[in-house]
Amino acid sequence: MDDFIFADEANNDVETNELDPWNILLVDDEPGVHQVTQMVLREFEFDNRKLNLISAYSGQQGLEIMASHSDIALAIIDVVMETDDAGLQLVRSIREELQNNYTRLVLRTGQPGQAPEEDVITNYDIDDYKDKTELTSNKLLTLLYASLRSYRDICVIDSHRRSLEQVILASTEIFEASSLKTFASAVLKQICNLLNIDGAIFYCTSLNEDIDSNSDYRVLAVSGNMAAYETRNKSELPESVRKAFEYALNQKQSYVNGDTYTGYFSTSLGSENLLYVSMDRELDDMDKQLLDIYASNVAVTYESLLLRDEILETQKELAYMLGEAVEQRSKETGSHVRRVALYSHFFAIKYGLSMQEAELIKLASPLHDVGKIVIPDSILKKPGKLTEDEWLIMQSHAQQGAELLKSSDNDVIKMGSIIAGQHHERWDGTGYPNKLKGEDIHISGRITALADVFDALGSIRYYKDAWPLEKILEEINTQKGKQFDPKLVEILNDNIDDILKIRDQYPD
Ligand code: C2E
Ligand code: SIN
Ligand code: SIN
Ligand code: FE
Ligand code: FE
Repeated sequence: MDDFIFADEANNDVETNELDPWNILLVDDEPGVHQVTQMVLREFEFDNRKLNLISAYSGQQGLEIMASHSDIALAIIDVVMETDDAGLQLVRSIREELQNNYTRLVLRTGQPGQAPEEDVITNYDIDDYKDKTELTSNKLLTLLYASLRSYRDICVIDSHRRSLEQVILASTEIFEASSLKTFASAVLKQICNLLNIDGAIFYCTSLNEDIDSNSDYRVLAVSGNMAAYETRNKSELPESVRKAFEYALNQKQSYVNGDTYTGYFSTSLGSENLLYVSMDRELDDMDKQLLDIYASNVAVTYESLLLRDEILETQKELAYMLGEAVEQRSKETGSHVRRVALYSHFFAIKYGLSMQEAELIKLASPLHDVGKIVIPDSILKKPGKLTEDEWLIMQSHAQQGAELLKSSDNDVIKMGSIIAGQHHERWDGTGYPNKLKGEDIHISGRITALADVFDALGSIRYYKDAWPLEKILEEINTQKGKQFDPKLVEILNDNIDDILKIRDQYPD
């Protein structure tokens, strides 16, 4: 018996490379059973891991060991010990009190009459039921293989599930911080890790649900090896992927075909999402389970992202697009509208506006000069000072911009109309086009006015050089209470470092 590994000794002479043994608990009040079992299992190995047989001689002792070990793969439990049903009670305690559903449980009895097999299997959550006479050494070995295999699989699934929970947790952060595309890429990377594959193909696509025809979708993210498809639309996807997607869309459900998984998940708002996974091996049950969990969870996260992203992204793109079209003509560089947007957002927050208002101003402020679209090149690009007539025409860009945007129902565009119309009004009532004064000027107009001038003074125009910071601040402070809302000028003075950080982020 000396060569048996007992629990207490197990750690003393473990070879460095050796994997931890499988922990097996034997609960039986007859010492002889322990001896025989140890003998039979002496040479046993499964997955290159030996056994560590732990002995308990009563139900009570068995429960104590179960409670203090989380990694017991299999417990072989005698039914009749300190009481006629001590083993049955132990099974119940393990599953219900300890909430342990991983450990495989096998009941072993010498008196079958006392615990009829059918009743026991039905009423107790056990994996097998053996008569003691039945448990020859061969049968015992078979039992061990089957139990350990099943325990191993349960552990793998559990570890996958926990990884997935991590992913879901992480997605909350992703949601806070970035766009749908970034989210989708992060999700794909996680799946690659979880399924332990690389060289597989992944697509995550979203239907453009704003169009009635549900026939269109776009590629959101692909795995590294398919990077060439990154920005492609549907018609450029490989044939096999397109077919898989069409099938899933028709069936409105996920399906597995050999080594590919096509996930279909829809959201309550009616968007439909597709995930295509192709592996270099057959998908096993765990892969499928993992992907199903993924598919059912992703929709929830996706929906809020989609809402946020689709709406804001389109609006932002539109605003930047229009704003940039203007810049390119007036030599305002590509970064001007972005800087103005970020300064405006910053001022809005510091001024005490809500996150929503600040966000709206940020999205709309790139539209402030959209009216310059109508100004002729001869004026817009004039290197020197404007004549009086030219100046009148130039000033019309405020009113023109307001008119251009005013009929929209879209909140961002409506805000853009206000900003375009009021960004050249002055606090003292001497601005244009309407000589509005003080708080009669919408806060978004006052904010954008300061952001725009701060940026324009520091930038090159056809008609002027960039000013040094000192001169800019001097000019703005001279205009405090005249051209600009004094409170906003103070915010600028107090936070100049943050403002300059934004400026450095988006240089011309
Ligand atoms: P912008 O170039 O985007 O300038 C926006 C605002 O920044 C100007 O609004 C003004 O308040 C301020 N700003 C820009 N450069 C200077 C400057 O050198 N000194 C001072 N004190 N402020 C400056 P503003 O004046 O209503 O002009 C609106 C737009 O009219 C300007 O937009 C620009 O496109 C055009 N513009 C203004 N003056 C001239 C000029 O002398 N020549 C030409 N070609 N265009 C001009
Ligand atoms: C375990 O050892 O507890 C889990 C089995 C495995 O993941 O291989
Ligand atoms: C995510 O991975 O971020 C969401 C998808 C999931 O919940 O599995
Ligand atoms: Fe302007
Ligand atoms: Fe501007």
